[in-house]
Amino acid sequence: MSAPEAGPADESSAPLAPLDLRGEPRFAWRGVMLDVARRFRPLPDLLRFVDLLAAHGLNVLQLHLTDDQGWRFEVRAYPRLTEVGGRRSESQLGHGPQSTLDGVPHEGSYTQHELRGLVAYAAARGIRVVPEIDVPGHAQSILAAYPEFGVGGAEAVRARIGEPWTRFGISDEVLNVEDATLAFVCTVFDELCDVFDSDVVGFGGDEAQKRRWHEDPRTQELMAERGLVSEDELQAWFLGRVAGHVAERGRRVIGWDEMLEGADAAGGPGAEGAAVGGPTVPTLPADAVVASWRGPVGAELGARLGHDVVLCPDLWTYFDYRQSDAADEPIPVGTVLSLEDVASFDPVPDGAPEWFAERVVGVQANVWTEQLDTRDRLDYAVFPRLGAFAEVAWNGGPLDWAAFSSRLPAYLAWLAEQGVGFRPLEGPRPDQQRPGVPGVPRERAARIAELERLTASLARVSGA
Ligand code: ACM
Repeated sequence: MSAPEAGPADESSAPLAPLDLRGEPRFAWRGVMLDVARRFRPLPDLLRFVDLLAAHGLNVLQLHLTDDQGWRFEVRAYPRLTEVGGRRSESQLGHGPQSTLDGVPHEGSYTQHELRGLVAYAAARGIRVVPEIDVPGHAQSILAAYPEFGVGGAEAVRARIGEPWTRFGISDEVLNVEDATLAFVCTVFDELCDVFDSDVVGFGGDEAQKRRWHEDPRTQELMAERGLVSEDELQAWFLGRVAGHVAERGRRVIGWDEMLEGADAAGGPGAEGAAVGGPTVPTLPADAVVASWRGPVGAELGARLGHDVVLCPDLWTYFDYRQSDAADEPIPVGTVLSLEDVASFDPVPDGAPEWFAERVVGVQANVWTEQLDTRDRLDYAVFPRLGAFAEVAWNGGPLDWAAFSSRLPAYLAWLAEQGVGFRPLEGPRPDQQRPGVPGVPRERAARIAELERLTASLARVSGA
């Protein structure tokens, strides 16, 4: 394919992959989220990843810097976050009930100096690095380092948590909601804003389990003092506080679509604060960006409420999901997300209402790395699916499969030239397989039913 006449080459001098990336991009936010919390990647790997994103005409790297399993961002005011939270003694091997532990210590973190270098390197290639610190759930690495920020008192938390989580999944652990804990979180975001110049910063908000808040008398007391009647409202209150602090630094937040839970009851985005049975409740700022990953409901509600929306529905954009249902697919997790499935992604279908279309600022592929412990395994999961995703981000979807297929030989040859360990179209090479490492494949219908259940409360508010 001849070189594009206009396009990402305008913002970056990186060589472009031979894909159809011409003219004006359809979406302003063409992102990839990389999870460096579950698997730390050395800085040179990140620089290489940035080069590859730039070559695909993408312009956002969301860096998922913290999770239950590891904390990767140097915070000068709280050094134990990286010293303790950045190391676990071993990791889960495989997925599901048959999974084991590998017995291999895993550690790593980035200094602020290194991250400033990454930001500059990426900016020179037309890429904005959007950092993400995940609160109030996915916080076990924080609690390993500073148990006083957990629910039930430091001693109880210390007894439950000795180190970042060595298992993968959804933990019950959440931050407590004391003023001191919010102050801690705000300090972390202050340092984050010092290092990253992105106008948008991620505060997570996903999958925070409410059981500990619900069962803890002190949390219930604080909820009553603040006039909050449910744990969903408490989550909205907490995230609203963090977003408000970030706003004081001139930034806005992006969060996963769970951030809308309880926000409606607490007054709705953009409200100055609403009375909910008593005191004023801070709500999400109107300029908060919703990353919609659990089907269409969060995107619709976010758009109805006037938020910008980045679409990253797991069924089309989760690159940790298995690429086929063949037995040799390594550690099968999630639903089948083949290259053709990615090409079929239709973010804003023809006929979508204007109020929706105008709020969708972009699309994002999410690369969760529980099962991707080496650079080669990351390459295998990301490529060539990123090629199809990049064309959707640039041109809108769905792609014309025959036309895209005709570009594939040149694209795969280009990947090979770049030294990318992509997945061959016919399936994994022997060295790319993971025989004996268990996974849990999921069926699409079962996942869709689960998503409907998970987003039922948002659907009620949306009136969908
Ligand atoms: C997510 O996949 N927990 C955003």
